[in-house]
Amino acid sequence: MSTRRIKVAKKSELAVGKGKAVMIQGQEIAVFHTEEGFFACENACLHQGAPLDQGDLQGCMVICPWHAWKFNLKDGSFVSDPAFALKTYPVISEGEDLWIEFPSKN
Ligand code: FES
Repeated sequence: MSTRRIKVAKKSELAVGKGKAVMIQGQEIAVFHTEEGFFACENACLHQGAPLDQGDLQGCMVICPWHAWKFNLKDGSFVSDPAFALKTYPVISEGEDLWIEFPSKN
């Protein structure tokens, strides 16, 4: 599958410990700046759809703001049952800009 690079943020607008929601091709994506770098995943918790960009970060984990399910942002896996996983997207850091590699529709 081919991918497109899409600019999603300036590094300066995403401090360590923060997340941000962006809309790409009709899908809401959460971008995070963790202590272990930048990550991106779909922005809907697998439990009841909470916006994960508003969750707390612990290392490279995001904790859902509604009922505290915890996901590893490196692979999207639900910590209590890794058979379930969020979709994740590679984040590329270039100069001041952050880009996501997003699957192309074509
Ligand atoms: S909606 Fe995320 S844990 Fe319930």
